[in-house]
Amino acid sequence: MKGIVLAGGLGTRMLPLTRVTNKHLLPVYDKPMVYYPIQALVDAGLRDIMIVTGGNSAGDFLKLLGNGEDFGLKQINYAYQKGEGGIAEALGICEQWARGDRIAVVLGDNIIERTIERAVRNFQAQPRGAKILLKEVPDPERFGVPELKGDRVVRIEEKPKQPKSRFAVVGIYMYDEQVWEFIKRCKPSGRGELEITDVNNFYIEQGTMSHDVLEGWWSDAGTFDSLLRASTLVAKGGANRKGPA
Ligand code: G1P
Repeated sequence: MKGIVLAGGLGTRMLPLTRVTNKHLLPVYDKPMVYYPIQALVDAGLRDIMIVTGGNSAGDFLKLLGNGEDFGLKQINYAYQKGEGGIAEALGICEQWARGDRIAVVLGDNIIERTIERAVRNFQAQPRGAKILLKEVPDPERFGVPELKGDRVVRIEEKPKQPKSRFAVVGIYMYDEQVWEFIKRCKPSGRGELEITDVNNFYIEQGTMSHDVLEGWWSDAGTFDSLLRASTLVAKGGANRKGPA
């Protein structure tokens, strides 16, 4: 299984912080944001990792991460996303590199307290399809929100005005090789992007999507408030204790 961190985009929700640098290079307490999703994949046992970057300061990722020595890796792979075509578009760039393997994808601004090792193992035992992670939040309208029937996710809505549950779809996704075909079926959304929610809905329609509820705290860090929250949670202890000093 291969790991992918999506760290592209223009970070327009965080101007002027992102005018000259990439959002994922901003600090979350004592480390650059992108360290956390990389560590999450490494902690889950993945060693073959791709960073998709783009926008401002794309070259700085190479300077910062090198060959992944800080994470005990021998090599890191890099890909470049031109413009801001969305999460599914950024993922599509990895097709050639990842084809034939299953993948775990982490959004570069998602920070978690505990390891996702068990979810990854559960997914590996699944015959096919995909897995998402859900977390109960006070503000689901900011995220992809699952509609649940019993314990089944029947649909995901991206940033709904009237959320159908109190859960958010966390920015950590596991996919089998069908993902590349599903990405090709996506059409740009209202915000002009290929949405990962559409990819997830293809799996739900196929009946091959599973989900776990994420243990421990989770925060995105893509707005001023969530960046502050993520930094505070990390400072209080928890995230990536095993990570580089
Ligand atoms: C993205 C996804 C959304 C998900 C969120 C998690 O939103 O589109 O479904 O819940 O990440 O952080 P974005 O932050 O790109 O608006």
